[in-house]
Amino acid sequence: MALIPQEEITALRQCVDIVEVISSYIPLDHKGKNYFGVCPFHADHSPSMSVSKEKQIYKCFSCGAAGNVFTFVQNYENVSFAQAVEIIAQKVGFHLSTPIKSIQNEKYSHYYEIMEVSSKYFTNNLKTEQGKAALEYLAKRFLDNNAIKEFNIGLALKNKDLLYQILKSKNYQEKDLENLGLINNHEQITDVFINRVMFPLHDPNGNIIGFSGRLYDNSEGPKYLNTRETIIFKKGQMLFNYHRAKNSIQNNKSIILVEGYMDAIRLYLNGVKNVVAIMGTSLTSDQIKLIQKLHCKVILCLDSDEPGQKATYEIGNILKNQNFEVEVIRLTGNKDPDEYIINQGIDAFKKNLNSPIKFLDFTINYLKQNKNLNETVDLANYVNDVLKDLSQEKDPILIDITLKKLADTYNLDYEILQDKLKQIDKLNKDIKQEKELKFVNDNKNIKLSKYEKTLKNLLFFMMNDAKYVRIYQENLVFINEAKYREIIKEILYYYELHQTINLADFLSFVTNNENVLPDVLNIVNVCSDIELEETAFYDFLKSIKVVNEKQTIKELKEKLKNCMDKNEKIKIANQIAEIKKGCV
Ligand code: UTP
Ligand code: MN
Repeated sequence: MALIPQEEITALRQCVDIVEVISSYIPLDHKGKNYFGVCPFHADHSPSMSVSKEKQIYKCFSCGAAGNVFTFVQNYENVSFAQAVEIIAQKVGFHLSTPIKSIQNEKYSHYYEIMEVSSKYFTNNLKTEQGKAALEYLAKRFLDNNAIKEFNIGLALKNKDLLYQILKSKNYQEKDLENLGLINNHEQITDVFINRVMFPLHDPNGNIIGFSGRLYDNSEGPKYLNTRETIIFKKGQMLFNYHRAKNSIQNNKSIILVEGYMDAIRLYLNGVKNVVAIMGTSLTSDQIKLIQKLHCKVILCLDSDEPGQKATYEIGNILKNQNFEVEVIRLTGNKDPDEYIINQGIDAFKKNLNSPIKFLDFTINYLKQNKNLNETVDLANYVNDVLKDLSQEKDPILIDITLKKLADTYNLDYEILQDKLKQIDKLNKDIKQEKELKFVNDNKNIKLSKYEKTLKNLLFFMMNDAKYVRIYQENLVFINEAKYREIIKEILYYYELHQTINLADFLSFVTNNENVLPDVLNIVNVCSDIELEETAFYDFLKSIKVVNEKQTIKELKEKLKNCMDKNEKIKIANQIAEIKKGCV
């Protein structure tokens, strides 16, 4: 793996301001010494992330996230550390000596390579004699050569283990192929995908991480067979077509969500490129984060059948809860967008796309389902349901219009509706407050022992200022916990290399050291508001020494108890006395 020289990383970090970089992603407010914003690393509405201009770090009070400018971009963009460095370098026009291509070689590059080779093999199969039937199937579905090329559609042949043989001949390891979900290794080794039309699945950066194989003749099995969850394939963390659609979504400021691969492919091929498929009927929090990054409104265009409408209602509510603007397109008379476009044409689809309905209007209609609004109880339930959803709405004008409409249509008292809505709002607020309170209390309960806090503070001081590294070196104390000893080792090593230290650059230094990074980030998170004072540092050293001495005395006393030899006993007793006097 090509590494970017540490000096370059430091030089780059020192010429960017973390406040500027983070505020290009999320709005920040200046309050006192720090800046505050809504943390993008957990679902939240309140500003729990603070950014320190002075220390050039960020931390979140709620979820424990912490780091420097690079780790922010790394986590926000879901890329490697090296890629985050590269993104920031490009932002500010900083020249990196390491070519970008080799930086992208990262942790899973070997896996991506195997998936890429497999995909090439599948696409090649389509061109052979044995690919004829599959090509005919694709043609029937209006997928021509252009479509096949754009989506890298391929074919797994009927033979049991051809992919395995090919990959083996290229010297790829069996274990890797198994880990990637490409082969099964039960009694004998067989390919996972046999006799299926193959669609590669990509991560948000465009790496192939899995496949979906569709039946195309009358053989048995599920319609689509997807790669099982592997080290690189997490279905809940991707959206089909996301990497191709990203730019178009940002340009259009809207994302179209469809259910199936074929729907996304059909829209994309017809020039509607801001489309992704959710590959099922629910939406995970990771998928929501992917959408949040693109700062867009969401247009739901799911299947028109009952499950599709139910999913529209549920997903729409989840998205509304996350403050998205949500709209809905309903394509009647056809099962899904793919069929609609084939039957009605892309222009008809675009017409719908240009006049979507607001999610609230969808809701008002959807909630009528299976209710007889001439019946009193049904009508009351219906109105209550609508009010509940209305309480998620922010726009007061939209709320007022809806209330008036309800009052008019069903001959109800406007004021009563208004009161009821207020009640629901209050209830929502109470529930939210209760949740927040519980969260704070839960966190308080994880109290650190005083000793551990002292250790963390000690390390925090040393990461911030070389003065404390030198004081430590002159007053060495033994650190009992291996994990903190490891961090000290890194700090001393960093100091030896640079004769100086600061928090933000030390974080870059340990970013690839998985043994220490989580603890370092935790220390940054829990200690970052403390004032650095020399007397405090000496106090830490002293109290650690006291704890160590107590521990040693305890061990010596134990030894004394078990000791039979008289002379040895006297020796141990003297040792204890000396420690107590503070001579050691
Ligand atoms: P659909 O049945 O709506 O798929 O399932 P589709 O895209 O319209 O497929 P075609 O047109 O019949 O080829 C929606 C999505 O659910 C997932 C797939 O992601 C599919 O695109 N699915 C469906 C599976 O993973 N496995 C299945 O067996 C079926
Ligand atoms: Mn379909």
